[in-house]
Amino acid sequence: MMAWTNRHCRYLHRLASPKAQLFTEMITTGALLHGPRERLLAHSPEEQPLVIQLGGADPGDVARAARLAVAVGFTEVNLNVGCPSSRVQQGAFGAALMRKPELVADCVRSMKDSVDVPVTVKCRLGVDDDDSDALLTAFVGHVAQSGCERFYVHARKAILGGLSPAQNRLVPPLQPERVYKLKTHFPDLNIVLNGGINEIDTALEHLRHVDGVMVGRSAYQDPNFLTELSERIYGETRRSPFDIMEDYLDYIDAQLIEGTRLSEMTRHTLGLFNGMRGARRYRQCLSDSHRLKQNNSDLVREALHMLRGQAA
Ligand SMILES: Cc1cc2nc3c(=O)[nH]c(=O)nc-3n(C[C@H](O)[C@H](O)[C@H](O)COP(=O)(O)O)c2cc1C
Repeated sequence: MMAWTNRHCRYLHRLASPKAQLFTEMITTGALLHGPRERLLAHSPEEQPLVIQLGGADPGDVARAARLAVAVGFTEVNLNVGCPSSRVQQGAFGAALMRKPELVADCVRSMKDSVDVPVTVKCRLGVDDDDSDALLTAFVGHVAQSGCERFYVHARKAILGGLSPAQNRLVPPLQPERVYKLKTHFPDLNIVLNGGINEIDTALEHLRHVDGVMVGRSAYQDPNFLTELSERIYGETRRSPFDIMEDYLDYIDAQLIEGTRLSEMTRHTLGLFNGMRGARRYRQCLSDSHRLKQNNSDLVREALHMLRGQAA
């Protein structure tokens, strides 16, 4: 998720869930091929299994970008066919590609010819009035023929004129049953359902119908949800937020030496203690811009000490 799931967030989420598959933010092929490549691809081995999500629509460019990503260890390459932002529309990729299954298939084929990891697609149910089951089935069927075996489906359509990206994640209604139906139509494809999953029972219900669930906002805003969901799905032993944070502190200290700003790491932890006594005070401590600028992890230790005192 853009501006959210950077490498530091992903490291925290890996501590919260040892097995969940993690994703980068969407990285455009333009940025990767002509921009700060090293920074965009940087990640820690601990983040694996880690998917890179590409934004682009030129078969040659996506293949070149995929090669660069796989060379540094990404284990799946995912093409964004769901982003509705106007900037992305101008670039003619993202959700607009739902209307161009042939081009998406060309991109997938070109990437598959270039890398030996799974190439997958994240899409919507449709765009604007092009939103029928028949069109969705045709899209997935066409792209699957080019070798894509896994689709992450955000279970709502995108509205390309008039809604902001944030509204496009709220206003069009969620229709998970249509994703179930898609799975029935393509039993051999791996179909992962995304959108509005914020309760364990909802996630488990979806898993009776599809092959996986993808969780965005709930995992970010409440990493304990990710921990609990992982425990239910993978049978992992649940770690307390304090244990997670102790390990994350080691990472923070190592990254501070590398020159990473403290706030770039701590901002992802603001929801970690939600629901506990002192959580608000913790968030306030770690929102003190003056102290954050000092880039000293003692600020985090103080906040944790305060929380432990409140919890006792
Ligand atoms: C801040 C933010 C940034 C996002 N960036 C991306 C992105 O880069 N690529 C993508 O496929 N989806 C992106 N999304 C959409 C989410 O991946 C997801 O499809 C959507 O939020 C619905 O799932 P959720 O209800 O579990 O959050 C973003 C969502 C948010 C809130």
